Amino acid sequence: MTQPFIRLGVNVLASGRHDAAWKTLPDAASLSTDIDHFVAIAKAAERALVDAIFLADGPGGLVSESYVRPWRALDPAILVAALSQHTQHVGLVVTTTSLFGHPHTVARQIASIDHVSRGRAAWNIITSQNPPALGAFGVENGWNQEERYARAQEFVEIVTALWDSVPAEAIEADAERHVYLNPQRLRPVDVQGRHFSARGALSVPQSPQGRPVIFQAGQSADSKAFGARFADALFTGQRVLAGGQAFYAETKRLAAAAGRDPSQLLIMPGLFPILGSTDEEAQRHKRALDDRLDTASLREELARHLALDPEALADLDAPLPHARIDANEPLVPIASRWHRQEMLKEARAHGWNIRELLFSNITGGHRVYTGTPEGFAQNMLSWVDARAADGFNLNIDVQPAGLDLIADHLIPVLQRAGRFRQAYDTHTLRGHLGLVQPHAGPAAWQRAG
Ligand SMILES: Cc1cc2nc3c(=O)[nH]c(=O)nc-3n(C[C@H](O)[C@H](O)[C@H](O)COP(=O)(O)O)c2cc1C
Repeated sequence: MTQPFIRLGVNVLASGRHDAAWKTLPDAASLSTDIDHFVAIAKAAERALVDAIFLADGPGGLVSESYVRPWRALDPAILVAALSQHTQHVGLVVTTTSLFGHPHTVARQIASIDHVSRGRAAWNIITSQNPPALGAFGVENGWNQEERYARAQEFVEIVTALWDSVPAEAIEADAERHVYLNPQRLRPVDVQGRHFSARGALSVPQSPQGRPVIFQAGQSADSKAFGARFADALFTGQRVLAGGQAFYAETKRLAAAAGRDPSQLLIMPGLFPILGSTDEEAQRHKRALDDRLDTASLREELARHLALDPEALADLDAPLPHARIDANEPLVPIASRWHRQEMLKEARAHGWNIRELLFSNITGGHRVYTGTPEGFAQNMLSWVDARAADGFNLNIDVQPAGLDLIADHLIPVLQRAGRFRQAYDTHTLRGHLGLVQPHAGPAAWQRAG
């Protein structure tokens, strides 16, 4: 049996995943809003033949990270609509909340992107409700975990039903009979939910790829159950192989239990490569970037994650105080708990000291690989072959230069191993990802009716 292609996305950040990336780039002040910069990133990703570029986002207003690095400023739906006109193949993943706003807005937005990109759009569903998000939307207390996912479920069911509400064959455009749209062929929604209500058909006809692709990001049991039912791909955050395998097995099992073909649910953890032509060069490159970080504030951030006094982390060469860490409750918001757990699992697995944990992407959360393109390719394939991932969402250290290393040095290694495409040979994102069918059966109100 031939081994499967590895799936790759690129997480587009204004300057790159390394927190010091912007300090190495010209015109740092305009990075968050410079369309030419984002076009260069999208084109570099397309040159690397990756499946998709991925625009993470958070609901709500200005975030505190903006004080120390360029942040996610532009509405990702607007940004990818622009990027779609400068690219021909690469998929475009837009992150939008399924808690706030109204499903109709999201359905129309993503379906419109799917048309302007000729079938390359995806919606990455998030369910975060941190204080800035609640504040921005004027919500007092937020929802408990069960309510949060019940609400997300209604949201998604309405969005997907709206995407299906105007099938392509409904547009007859028959001049002889004077019929443009045949109302008999419409599938309007009519839902009075606990959280959302909607009636009618979307103004946007069915998408060129049947339905936009759905990604989902989360780690809790509720999130896994939700994603296994509604998503085509899960964006996750495992940092150690055994954890990746457990997550993979569980979510594939949940997909099968929901009546789906498990191969149609892709598992894509985030991963952060720092590459060089030798291991030593990669380490030097990482050190050069790490040296430009504000160690004091990074230590405060780590102390917050570990619920420790920053003073307890003063000696960077000391071992991590695991006993004290385990005894403490995290002070960080729920959304960051996965990230705390995963970084501690990795620290324990490798016996890291404080310095090693501090410089292991504690703000971004994803596993760092420092080494050669050959080693990195091997490392990724070992996860895929051990059934811990179907692919990865790559975080690039400095954009767009780091993406050139991916295109010129990593992709050829994967291609020589027969594990990556030689050229785009499909036209839609669904096609690139090998997703044959839109998933998920009828929504709750359709089942009832
Ligand atoms: C890998 C990963 C990526 C995420 N990306 C985002 C994001 O871009 N924006 C956001 O607001 N929340 C993001 N989240 C947060 C999730 O949507 C969710 O709110 C969080 O995981 C808490 O829910 P849970 O405990 O049910 O997993 C992400 C979570 C994970 C695990």
